[in-house]
Amino acid sequence: MAVEYITSRNMISLIYETMRVMNVSVAHHSVRVGYILAKLLECRGSYEKYEIADFMILAMLHDIGAFKTDDVRKQLTYEAKRTLPHSIYGYLFLKYLSPFEERSKIVLYHHMDYTKTKDLDFRYRFELELLKLAEMMDIWYKAFGDKFEYAMINKYSGTKFDPEAVALLQKAIENDDFLEKIKDNTFGDEVDEYEDYVLLSDGEKEKYLKMLMYFTGLRDESMVSETISVISVSRELTRKLNLNENDKNEIYYAALLHDIGMLAIPSQLLNAPRNLNEEEKNLIKTHVEIMEKMLEGKISDNIIKIATAHHERFDGSGYPKGLKASYMTNKDAILQLSEYVVNAMREKPYRRAYTKKEITENLNNGIISGQYDAIVTDTFMKHFDDIIEIAEDKADMALIMYQKLLRNYKQVYNSLA
Ligand SMILES: [Fe+2]
Ligand SMILES: [Fe+2]
Ligand SMILES: [Fe+2]
Repeated sequence: MAVEYITSRNMISLIYETMRVMNVSVAHHSVRVGYILAKLLECRGSYEKYEIADFMILAMLHDIGAFKTDDVRKQLTYEAKRTLPHSIYGYLFLKYLSPFEERSKIVLYHHMDYTKTKDLDFRYRFELELLKLAEMMDIWYKAFGDKFEYAMINKYSGTKFDPEAVALLQKAIENDDFLEKIKDNTFGDEVDEYEDYVLLSDGEKEKYLKMLMYFTGLRDESMVSETISVISVSRELTRKLNLNENDKNEIYYAALLHDIGMLAIPSQLLNAPRNLNEEEKNLIKTHVEIMEKMLEGKISDNIIKIATAHHERFDGSGYPKGLKASYMTNKDAILQLSEYVVNAMREKPYRRAYTKKEITENLNNGIISGQYDAIVTDTFMKHFDDIIEIAEDKADMALIMYQKLLRNYKQVYNSLA
């Protein structure tokens, strides 16, 4: 069902844009690595364009684990020593949350020397060797600038790098001096061209959109369970209110993406165990406009409209635009209410959780003052316990998945360290 709301091309742009919001240097590094990898695969001659494009997306995400495990910047220096944590976390993240399946393992081994990877029984071992090469090339190239030369890579042929991969690199550079293009930053058009060949299935788009939501958990796990509760509350409400399939879908995707702008907010503010000052509060509020810019032109406008209204209120007291009832529909009201309720029910570092009685009182007052849409809010209050029970179950399931991921992390770590 995701197919009507976002094109394959825009899905890739949205992934890139999200990476960029999280960290510009990592995003740029990742695109360059993807470009080098694409050039190598192309030179090899045995890959279809869409296969090259798929590997490019994987390369775009190869350092995703660094957002969880370390100071992100450390991964971009060639003396980075502790490369295992981000490799393992990135691998597990992609294995569970992206459509890459077996290919995710490329990320697990992307800092491992050829002497250790050469005998791996792994279907994508050669692509792994190429990614490794692309990764180090970009890091060395950035570090050494004009002093970088092919001989530096060649020196490690057979130890760090696969000789076959190194030979392919030499051939690729002879064919087309793409290092020059990286240097002048003129490779963007070629990247665009490759990306035109990406053809995602409905299921893949759905998975990528969910993956973007899970990015928020790389910095703060409670954000994922919170969003999953919001999705669940809003879904129950759309059912009780008999909305049509299209409206249900739009609300679902808006709920899924409504807080991805938080990826741009400094993480120390997200869970600060104190009351924030005005300036800090305003900074957090920018997450809505940031999300709007991230999504603009990429996903259906209807979804963007619902998502950007999630902190608006029907009496005009919300943000960022202070929209009033006449500019909003019950779709906006459903997400607003779901977001409010899920937040109110949760304990925050700076306050306790609200009780059911307090929430009901607030909502009743909100109906009277015109803050909340009466029909949506009444429907929620009528089914309060059922809706909340389902939402909590869903959030618990998300937590279990995380625990599984972390358990796996330890297993993989012990097997490789
Ligand atoms: Fe990297
Ligand atoms: Fe890395
Ligand atoms: Fe929000």
